[in-house]
Amino acid sequence: MKHPSPYNTLQSYLENSNFRKVMVVCDERILQLHEEFVRIHFADNQHTQFFFFPIPATESHKEMSMVMQLLDQLLIHHFDKNHLIINLGGGIISDLGGFAAAVYKRGIPFVNVPTTLLGMVDAAHGGKNGVNFHHLKNGLGSIYFPQQVFIEPLFLYTLSDQEWLNGFAELLKTALIGDTELWYKLELWVLGESLSQLRSRISAQVIKQVASIKNGLVQQDPQDRGVRQQLNFGHTIGHALESLHLEKEIELPHGFAVAAGIYYETELATRKGILETNQKKRIQRVVQKLYDIPQLDLSEQSRLIHFISQDKKNKNGEIHMSLISEIGKGIHGVPVSIAEIESLFRE
Ligand SMILES: NC(=O)c1ccc[n+]([C@@H]2O[C@H](COP(=O)([O-])OP(=O)(O)OC[C@H]3O[C@@H](n4cnc5c(N)ncnc54)[C@H](O)[C@@H]3O)[C@@H](O)[C@H]2O)c1
Repeated sequence: MKHPSPYNTLQSYLENSNFRKVMVVCDERILQLHEEFVRIHFADNQHTQFFFFPIPATESHKEMSMVMQLLDQLLIHHFDKNHLIINLGGGIISDLGGFAAAVYKRGIPFVNVPTTLLGMVDAAHGGKNGVNFHHLKNGLGSIYFPQQVFIEPLFLYTLSDQEWLNGFAELLKTALIGDTELWYKLELWVLGESLSQLRSRISAQVIKQVASIKNGLVQQDPQDRGVRQQLNFGHTIGHALESLHLEKEIELPHGFAVAAGIYYETELATRKGILETNQKKRIQRVVQKLYDIPQLDLSEQSRLIHFISQDKKNKNGEIHMSLISEIGKGIHGVPVSIAEIESLFRE
């Protein structure tokens, strides 16, 4: 793909920081689709030698044996704390490369160059990294922060609508918990425009605005023990829906599950008297325009409640959720009963 603009930010970072060795951990698709970006940025020069570790970006490759292969390469090429890892890809790449950076020699510097919308607004920020472990998604990992995250929206042009919508659900969620004005702008675009018009609205500036909401919460609570949990809005029911679909071997992409989670958790917030009905209706209208909301029969409802009861945010056997009290205002640690969740699917 031809790239019309120069990439000053990553380029100048590389020039100014002068790392002698750089390992580019990359989604192998990006090497093909964005060959020019790769050539411009990662050509050996008198200061820096570049190495590449391409990975197929699938969940089955996001696991420990791939990390071990990467660590072997770092060792073979004598990487140390003065050298850099660049993660070029979506969340699979930044999770895996960030984890390798965290454990190799007790931590070497890394930066993220996200290529998906989800990566740009969410996965590349916040320091959480890791890989899947047996049946546990992200079962191994750490919290270790990138030196920088470079947002280059040109990568979004080659992203499918489905992958784009995956990321957009997290973008909507973040606006709902942290930026009233942005959410109303998004509402206008979603309801008034086609998907391709909407896609063109999501500029670097919007992406950075959303990323800064996440980064603000992360800075206040890096270890995820308090306010950072607001980022889990839509995720308790969303994750349970993902597990339910996995069990039934039906595909449900993460962002679509989060969108349905936002829909149902908004309903819950209203039924608990936390959120005004009018605001709930506006949110649900936006979500429904872009995403199918799965309806559940009785046996699916009981499996869903089983998965929700196992959620890691629960305390002393009590379900705790992150909800919103108004558009733009997230809250966390809200106790919710099983009866309240059951009632969501009844009426
Ligand atoms: N660490 C965190 O805070 C965090 C947060 C959310 C999600 N995640 C993790 O992120 C992962 C999902 O990441 P994701 O959704 O960003 O994408 P991904 O890395 O799973 O990639 C999704 C697909 O998009 C393709 N792709 C990537 N960039 C592309 C581009 N520019 N053009 C065309 N195709 C492209 C990939 O090859 C792949 O087929 C999950 O493993 C999830 O657990 C981590």
